[in-house]
Amino acid sequence: MSLCYLNGTFMPLDEARISPMDRGFLFGDAAYEVVPVYSHRPFRLNEHLARLSHTLDQIRLDNPHTSREWEGIVQSLVEASHDEDVQVYVQVSRGADRVRDQAFPKHVSPTVFAFAAPLVHPSQTVLAKGVSARSSNDIRWLRCDLKVTSLLANCLMRQDAVESGCAETILFRDDVLTEGAASNIFVVKAGALYAPPKDHLMLPGITYDVIIELAHQHGVPLHIGKITRAQVLAADELWMTSSTREVLAITTLDGQPVGEGVPGSLGKQMFAWYQAFKQSVMRGRS
Ligand code: PDD
Repeated sequence: MSLCYLNGTFMPLDEARISPMDRGFLFGDAAYEVVPVYSHRPFRLNEHLARLSHTLDQIRLDNPHTSREWEGIVQSLVEASHDEDVQVYVQVSRGADRVRDQAFPKHVSPTVFAFAAPLVHPSQTVLAKGVSARSSNDIRWLRCDLKVTSLLANCLMRQDAVESGCAETILFRDDVLTEGAASNIFVVKAGALYAPPKDHLMLPGITYDVIIELAHQHGVPLHIGKITRAQVLAADELWMTSSTREVLAITTLDGQPVGEGVPGSLGKQMFAWYQAFKQSVMRGRS
């Protein structure tokens, strides 16, 4: 039976209960994080906790825990899990009031919820072939830099991807690339790597930062700036990156091959660097 953390108590997930008046439920008024854990060790936990703090600040919700407390909660869930590699989900909502009012309630405690689920890695077949994506207009709000649970637009766009047999929807605002419905997107052209800037139109991915660091470390030419739809369509390679999917080649977009329609050489190299970096971080801590 899997364990979860709810408001100070560890309990079986099946037994966890919150009020239907919770603002996370009524309004999507909550911040969250998804932390990948490899061999029982959280990867880039400090960065995930810093992003959670930033989101909470921006939505004017006090962080209910210190970093040390968060580490304790995450570690306890990891230790209770049978799987070596898991993803820990952490959520803080503004809590439950007695009335339904969009304005913030006074004297209400936040609801803190966390649980661990298996981290399923892409199969060798998927890695060898890459995945399909579709494109769509980005219909979200203008604070996509915040990791909040008001995710209906992302859900619709991700469902569209699933219904068209795709792994992801790539989003454009006025023909400029923003990100994926649940990932960041990188473009490769003529051996150089292109990434959209970390602004209010995309989530500043923790994996995105790792990719940028690895590109710097290995001397890959890197351009961070506006990427147009035309540049995406002319790309040699497209990658999606996230904590749960790491670096995954997108080999068809809207039914057309990306580059040669197979994972490209820089993508394969980046995947290898990413795996080596992960291993070195994990060894470094043991
Ligand atoms: N999503 N952009 C969006 C919209 C995302 O939802 C995510 C991750 C990312 C990548 O961020 P990171 O590298 O920090 O995981 C970018 C998580 C995994 C999710 O919501 O399940």
